[in-house]
Amino acid sequence: MGRDFAYVILGGGVAAGYAALEFAKKGVSHGQLCIISDEPVAPYERPALSKGFLLPEAPARLPGFHTCVGANEERLTPNWYTEHGIELILGTRVISANTKLKTLLTATGETITYKFLIIATGARAVKLEEIGINGSNAENVCYLRDLADATKLVNMMRMCTGGNAIVIGGGYIGMECAASLVMNKINVSMVFPGSYCMGRLFTPKIASYYEEFYKSKGVSFIKGTSLSSFVFNSEGKVMGANLKDGRYLHADMVVVGIGARPNTNLFEGQLAFENGGIKVNNRFQSSNTSVYAVGDIASFPIKLFNDTRRVEHVDAARKTAKHAVHAIMEPKTISDFDYLPFFYSRAFSLSWQFYGDNVGEVVHFGDFSGTKFGAYWVNNGRLVGCFLEGGGNEDYVAIAKVVRLKPVVLDLGELERKGVDFVVAM
Ligand code: FDA
Repeated sequence: MGRDFAYVILGGGVAAGYAALEFAKKGVSHGQLCIISDEPVAPYERPALSKGFLLPEAPARLPGFHTCVGANEERLTPNWYTEHGIELILGTRVISANTKLKTLLTATGETITYKFLIIATGARAVKLEEIGINGSNAENVCYLRDLADATKLVNMMRMCTGGNAIVIGGGYIGMECAASLVMNKINVSMVFPGSYCMGRLFTPKIASYYEEFYKSKGVSFIKGTSLSSFVFNSEGKVMGANLKDGRYLHADMVVVGIGARPNTNLFEGQLAFENGGIKVNNRFQSSNTSVYAVGDIASFPIKLFNDTRRVEHVDAARKTAKHAVHAIMEPKTISDFDYLPFFYSRAFSLSWQFYGDNVGEVVHFGDFSGTKFGAYWVNNGRLVGCFLEGGGNEDYVAIAKVVRLKPVVLDLGELERKGVDFVVAM
């Protein structure tokens, strides 16, 4: 049993959706392209799962957030794929790949052959068992990576109104979920080992603002410790958690956000790897010229910082996918990918964006007791990164433009005094 396609996208997430749109724009013929995904639905905007999807009132639901609405492009419903002759092979896991023979084997026993393969398998949530703790399968322990996880989380929140949740992890999944739990009238304790939240991006001063804001909404922060074990009832539900510092927390539900790992195992030993991802050139071509890799799993050159990185953010998934399709379909007109790292988050009434790199000296600016503030990062005398909470569209456009230029900064005090006006005026 088998099928043959000119182009196969493996994975049906954000990058797959944006790649499909680009293929359609470039005029792919009916029957030439398929998307294979183990999810049962057409590609959707994954960030919606920790935001609109969890709202207690008028929550976002499919088909409302299929790609590519997140970038103000067309919304690709299942019908769109049919109309464009793009085959969606859903609910189907690929269990092995052979890049020499150009074949993929699915869990249903089908062999799919390609001329060009785009790997877009994204990442998976790290499980508690991977850090030596049992309990992931308990009915009131939730993760958040895909629609099934988000649906379980919503059902659990409905059952736990007025109860207590423990959020394990202080990254963006933990922060966004904590906000949603509060909005769903659940008491939240956040537990994480660091001394402040969002430690990979925030400075202690920025983190302190968000922690105070969250505390004002009733969230408790238990920092500098981590989960030691769960206590289960006779039905296997988690009733509470023992922490490494000896504390015990009662829980009606638990949300775990302890990181993600790229889904690259199918290609280990077949393609070159770097930074834990599939190494690609500035056209997203891997060490095998018929195989491209995009989104969370791609380790690609970042011209601006003269290095190679894996970027687990939605903007990178969208843009890398588009670029790879352009490189495959119109190789003569493609220019080198020139990416400015960009990441955002929204929770409660808060909303921030970050552009560039958070290395070097930090200069905070703005009103940390108000609603608009941020930080610049200056490395080797050049402005390389900027974080802004509460900005307007004009501010963010200016930040993106200026950070890309990496201007020389002679006076750090000027950055502090002028704040976001420093970039708006440039
Ligand atoms: P993505 O994970 O979207 O898709 C991978 C697909 O491949 C999935 O459909 C998966 O099931 C499938 N797959 C994997 N292995 C397979 C196999 N063997 N066979 C078949 N199918 C397989 N970013 C940001 O910048 N701002 C934000 O606010 C957020 N918010 C956010 C919230 C939540 C809940 C998550 C989980 C993630 C975010 N992100 C984010 C990150 C962002 O969503 C992420 O970077 C992109 O989804 C990456 O897109 P990809 O297409 O690479 O992977």
